[in-house]
Amino acid sequence: MSYIPSTSRYQDMLYRRCGKSGLKLPAISLGLWHNFGHVNDFENSRKILHTAFDAGITHFDLANNYGPPPGSAEENFGKILKQDFSAYRDELVISSKAGYYMWEGPYGEWGSKKYLVSSLDQSLKRMQLDYVDIFYHHRPDPDTPLEETMSALDLIVRQGKALYVGISNYKPQEAKQAFQILKDLGTPCLIHQPKYSMFERWVEDGLLDLLGKEGVGCIPFSPLAQGLLTDKYLKGIPKDSRVATSGVFLNENHLTEERLTAVAKLNALAQKRGQKLAHMALSWILKDDRITSVLIGASKPEQVLDSIKALENINFSDEELKEINAILA
Ligand SMILES: NC(=O)c1ccc[n+]([C@@H]2O[C@H](COP(=O)([O-])OP(=O)(O)OC[C@H]3O[C@@H](n4cnc5c(N)ncnc54)[C@H](OP(=O)(O)O)[C@@H]3O)[C@@H](O)[C@H]2O)c1
Repeated sequence: MSYIPSTSRYQDMLYRRCGKSGLKLPAISLGLWHNFGHVNDFENSRKILHTAFDAGITHFDLANNYGPPPGSAEENFGKILKQDFSAYRDELVISSKAGYYMWEGPYGEWGSKKYLVSSLDQSLKRMQLDYVDIFYHHRPDPDTPLEETMSALDLIVRQGKALYVGISNYKPQEAKQAFQILKDLGTPCLIHQPKYSMFERWVEDGLLDLLGKEGVGCIPFSPLAQGLLTDKYLKGIPKDSRVATSGVFLNENHLTEERLTAVAKLNALAQKRGQKLAHMALSWILKDDRITSVLIGASKPEQVLDSIKALENINFSDEELKEINAILA
């Protein structure tokens, strides 16, 4: 079946400027970490992408190792791009990353120039692309000089293989140094991708202030804590949930009594706001204008449509914020 994008796709999405750059991103972006590998149903993956683009989601986030098996999310994304989105490449912001283990030997992970340049070449082949819009260093490397890693990012931009660069999982002090090196090289850092949700608030301890001051964008990943910050686990473990189907990064051990009690209280508060918990969890992040976009995942097209409803109310009263802090304390 051929795909024709909705003509009203830009009607309802909110687009936010990424730091002080010229690039705008949709307030909700879609990541392909789960549900796009060779182990997944290709037609479902395809429908998720159609639904997202139809709703104004122009940004899709990948990495070399997404699958499983590693690389297969990029391969499947490449097929879907070619099949359905080839006329729309200029309406899309596609990102990839390298940093985690990808291949055997000393050049298959971390932050050397050797690894980053070859990894991006492999990603471009898998996605059948000439360039990505954003290329990230996926995690800091304690052993490679930061100057080498950042100069690899600069090189990649100069080679035309990426338009912008970003970093992910860097703590404030490392991020600050990376920003300075990139600025000196003439390739300013576009964006930082940290883990941030109601359950993981480390970015509030210095990182967001730094990003605001430096004019670097912020795209938090796992804003729903991989699905914990929804109402889905309140009555047990659904068969089609990440806990039941994947179990690698999210499993029953994460569903502690303490956590589920907090989820139940947050769920009640969300209902008082006229939202579902998933909506409130996303809007709570988007209330801060230093956040460019929240990077969600979805196992079904309907979840994309559901999560977008977060944009209907991203304002919180002081009372609500206090109540949320008390629940999370
Ligand atoms: N930079 C990094 O190191 C890093 C690390 C991790 C992720 N990421 C990026 O962040 C993206 C998102 O991560 P994530 O998948 O963990 O994000 P998430 O949004 O916290 O969790 C997504 C999962 O929650 C469930 N869900 C989503 N919307 C829902 C809704 N409206 N109602 C109920 N359940 C819903 C689905 O799981 P089920 O239906 O299967 O339960 C979905 O797969 C990744 O794809 C990747 O691009 C980056």
